[in-house]
Amino acid sequence: MRKVYVNGDFKNEDEAKVSIFDRGLLFSDSIYEVTSVIDGKLIDFNHHMKRLDRSMTELKFKSFINHDEILEFHRKLIEFNNLKEGMIYTQVTRGVVDRSFDMPKDVIKPTVLAFTQEKKILESDAAKNGIKVMTLEDMRWKRNDIKTTQLLYASMAKSEATAKGFDDAWMLRQGYITEGSSNNVWIVKGKIIMTRHSDNLILSGITREAVLKCAKDLGYEIVTKNFTLQDAQSANEAFITSATALVTPVVKINTSKIGGGKPGNFVKALRAEYIKQALETAI
Ligand code: PDD
Repeated sequence: MRKVYVNGDFKNEDEAKVSIFDRGLLFSDSIYEVTSVIDGKLIDFNHHMKRLDRSMTELKFKSFINHDEILEFHRKLIEFNNLKEGMIYTQVTRGVVDRSFDMPKDVIKPTVLAFTQEKKILESDAAKNGIKVMTLEDMRWKRNDIKTTQLLYASMAKSEATAKGFDDAWMLRQGYITEGSSNNVWIVKGKIIMTRHSDNLILSGITREAVLKCAKDLGYEIVTKNFTLQDAQSANEAFITSATALVTPVVKINTSKIGGGKPGNFVKALRAEYIKQALETAI
C-alpha cells in the first residue's frame, strides 16, 4: 500500500480522491512531470521544476507552486514508500470548476497530486538488450512542447507497437521522425549524433538536455535537426532518452536492424556517462 500525495495531504493510495469536476479529468487541462529516483535520490529535479513552470505558463495557469514545497513532498514520498529506484509522478491540474470550455477567469486552486512507482532503471532489460521500435504517423496535436496529460494518442501508439511485438512507436510527421511515445529519439552516424531540434512538435526532454552535454564531453559532434526514417534505418546506432529510460539503445526500426541488432559501444558509453553525471548532481 503506497502513500500518495493529494493537495497537501499524504493518504493511502486507495483513499486519495479528486473531484469529478476537476479540469484535469474533464479536459486534460493539466500538466505533469516524471522525475526518476536512483539510490533514493532525485535526478535532475530542478530542471523538471523549471519545465513544470513553463508548462503552467504556456497554458496560462494563474497559480504557481513553490518548488521547495514540491521538493518536500517528493522527499517525504521517497521516505514513506522507501523508494530506492523508480520515479515520482507529479500532476498539476488547473483545478475544480463547473464544466465549461471557457477557462475560468478567476484564480482557482490547482489540484496537485503525486505518487511513487518502483521501476528498474539502472539494470533494465531494455538497457541491456536494446529496444525495437516501429514507426507510426504522428497524429498528436501541435503543442507537444507542453507536458500535458493529453496522452491518449501516445498511449494508442505505444499499444499498437507492443501488440505488434515492438517495444515502442516512433512518430513520423511529414516524413521526419519527431519523437517516441514518451521519449526523445537520437541516431549516430560515424562521429555525428543527430537528435531532432526542439520546437512545438516535441517535448524538450530534460534527459535530452543533459545527454547533449554528455555527448559533447565524450567528444562527439551534435547536430540538432530533423531526420527521416531512412536516415534512422541507415544509422550506426540509435537510442532514446527519457527520465525513466535514461539512455536506452534502439536495435531495430521497423524491419531494419541497427548495429547488427545489438547495442553499440557509443550508446553504452553515453549511458554510463549520463548515469555518472546524473548521480553527481542528484539531490
Ligand atoms: N515522458 N517526449 C515525450 C513525448 C515524453 O513523454 C517524454 C517523457 C520525453 C522525455 O522527456 P524527459 O527526458 O524530460 O523525461 C520526450 C515521461 C518519462 C513519461 O511520460 O513517463
